[in-house]
Amino acid sequence: MERVRLGKTDIETVPLGVGTWAWGDSLYWTYGKDYDSSQIKSAYDAAIAAGITLFDTAEVYGWGESERLIGQFIKPGDRPNLHLATKYMPLPWRIQPQVVHDAITHSLERLRLKTIDLYQVHQPCAFLMSQKTLLTALAEEVKQGRIRAIGVSNYSAKQMREAHDILAAHRVPLAANQVLYSILDRQIETNGIRDTARELGITILAYSPLAQGLLTGKFSLTRTPKGARQWIPRYGADGIAQIQPLLRVMRQVADQYQRTLSQIALNWLICQGQGAVIPIPGAKNAAQAEDNAGALGWTLDRVDVAAIAREARACQPKS
Ligand SMILES: NC(=O)c1ccc[n+]([C@@H]2O[C@H](COP(=O)([O-])OP(=O)(O)OC[C@H]3O[C@@H](n4cnc5c(N)ncnc54)[C@H](OP(=O)(O)O)[C@@H]3O)[C@@H](O)[C@H]2O)c1
Repeated sequence: MERVRLGKTDIETVPLGVGTWAWGDSLYWTYGKDYDSSQIKSAYDAAIAAGITLFDTAEVYGWGESERLIGQFIKPGDRPNLHLATKYMPLPWRIQPQVVHDAITHSLERLRLKTIDLYQVHQPCAFLMSQKTLLTALAEEVKQGRIRAIGVSNYSAKQMREAHDILAAHRVPLAANQVLYSILDRQIETNGIRDTARELGITILAYSPLAQGLLTGKFSLTRTPKGARQWIPRYGADGIAQIQPLLRVMRQVADQYQRTLSQIALNWLICQGQGAVIPIPGAKNAAQAEDNAGALGWTLDRVDVAAIAREARACQPKS
């Protein structure tokens, strides 16, 4: 299977990961109510069996439960090929660099690992601890070997460039910027993030690549999502009605390739980056993990990529 490099690091992965926000989270997702740890474990096992090597978590997902579950699932044989990405939340009261080192210690304990492959700053926040202090602490951790690579998340083009420059002074590359990117969320194509990432050799990790299920085509006016999504307009009846023309085009393409809508949505993203965009779809069970992994190993034709992009533009909410 095709492999891509994470930024300018020596980490190589297939161009698709698994996002694990829903693993243990009952604040936004409905963990413990509609699905449980046994289904999540089957999602993990199915992803590994399909050749996925990158798993994305965060210290705040399920207040550590996502990391804890992954730590329980990893089998000794998995580790050599596995790439674990987690995140540090720069809360305003986290002032001293020592909290960064402590956060890494706690993530390593929950994950039952000695090294984190990609450690990301969850969002830009320079309230009392400056970016320079935070990123310098992370660069030290790379030198200590507790993390292999550094990433950021939700950083603007300008913030990404600043982070890149701070790390460059320590001879550490900024490997990735994890941002919202899907057929329905294409802001990074015009706000400078995609172009700056290309210029600096930074990988885009595309989060919510299925628009939290909308692009799987499974929702309808009579089947809307559960949990917190039900309060967000795009998942309501009007939002679902609005994207039907896009889903129709995606279905035609899916039929042509004998693929599912999820696979079309994820392959479309992979096609955008030529190795520089890695979608990290969430999966709550084996069926979803297997379906999503089917986005690997083939490529949409340029004509179909363009047709989907055109229709997606027409579906954007009017401001
Ligand atoms: N850095 C950040 O600020 C940030 C923010 C958001 C997400 N993320 C990361 O990105 C990952 C993915 O984003 P996301 O979970 O928000 O959205 P997503 O990947 O677009 O959607 C995931 C959800 O879609 C449904 N789904 C997934 N695969 C499916 C399939 N094949 N068929 C049918 N339904 C399917 C599942 O929910 P249902 O079954 O309930 O519909 C699943 O939980 C997260 O897990 C997290 O790691 C990061």
